[in-house]
Amino acid sequence: MSLSLMLSMLITGIIFPWGTISQDTITITKVTIDNCVSGGMQVEELTKGTIAVSQLSNGDIIRGIRGADRVHGWCRVEAVYPRKGNEMFITYDGFTADHMVIDADAVHAYGKKGNATKSRLYTLATECDAAVNAAGQAFTPISTAFCPHELSWSEYLPLMAAIRRVTSRTGYFWYFSDAFFNNETARVPEWKNMLHDMCTELLRCARKGQCQKFEKVVKEFVHEHMNPKYRVIVDHMFPNIGGDVEKSETGTITELVRPQEKSNPLLFLAVGSAVAMVLIIIIAAALLVRRARVTRRAKTAKDLTQATILKLRPKTWRHEDVAAQHS
Ligand SMILES: *[C@@H]1O[C@H](CO)[C@@H](O)[C@H](O)[C@H]1NC(C)=O
Ligand SMILES: *[C@@H]1O[C@H](CO)[C@@H](O)[C@H](O)[C@H]1NC(C)=O
Repeated sequence: MSLSLMLSMLITGIIFPWGTISQDTITITKVTIDNCVSGGMQVEELTKGTIAVSQLSNGDIIRGIRGADRVHGWCRVEAVYPRKGNEMFITYDGFTADHMVIDADAVHAYGKKGNATKSRLYTLATECDAAVNAAGQAFTPISTAFCPHELSWSEYLPLMAAIRRVTSRTGYFWYFSDAFFNNETARVPEWKNMLHDMCTELLRCARKGQCQKFEKVVKEFVHEHMNPKYRVIVDHMFPNIGGDVEKSETGTITELVRPQEKSNPLLFLAVGSAVAMVLIIIIAAALLVRRARVTRRAKTAKDLTQATILKLRPKTWRHEDVAAQHS
């Protein structure tokens, strides 16, 4: 194996997993409810052109924005589902009044303005931080049922990233209102009344790394209000849900939600020295191999001059023959 091949394999092995971790740092559990848009709202799809949300499928590509600079681009649709039941709801320019949209730097409820129509509601989540509809309005997959207050874009970003990390691990059922039920014996009987607390704690965890309350409130929510068919998934994915996250994050939801210390100088130092060590070892090994080869070649040259038989039968030359000649 060539040195450069060996090097690139090693470097990929070392840098890549670490790069992946620092990239996806935070996530969340998003739980919202009337996080809905009208099935009739128009969006632009990469190959289908301008179509209604109700005509979208998972995997379609629509317009959206991402990152601190709200860069516009194409985004894969991760989840588009009609709300269960045939009930119609009033939407304003395609949004329920409490649906959170983005204007300039603020993430806030759309409100009761524009054209009011009765429509079927859809959940729409993409890989981007927000989607953009055909009218140019950027919108989130959440509503004020989950986070009651206006958020700045910089507050919203880690929240959404955390939600995406959780939903991509568990599935998108957090967005379904029928995934939850009221429980008379629970501390908070109405599940919707837990959402604001969960948003607050999610923000605290995803932005500041203070996660114990978040871990506890999510456990309570899952164990007292989540449909058993989804609860088993959550328990399976997070076997230590509700655990002491200061002791160990392993198996907790916090493990996905808490920001990783990506700019930790000690980490850079550790990774840097590990890479340097590996390089030194490889170079030393390569030098040793080369020296051994040179020595062997010198010895072989000497053997060849002595072993005239090799000239006569080059095709059947074997190490054993050479060794036999000289033993
Ligand atoms: C409201 O609906 C009318 C008629 O359907 C349309 O002409 C107008 O552009 C709509 N306004 C908005 C903000 O979508
Ligand atoms: C309702 O909440 C209680 C805790 O108070 C819990 O033990 C029980 O399992 C919950 N009910 C259901 C059906 O999950």
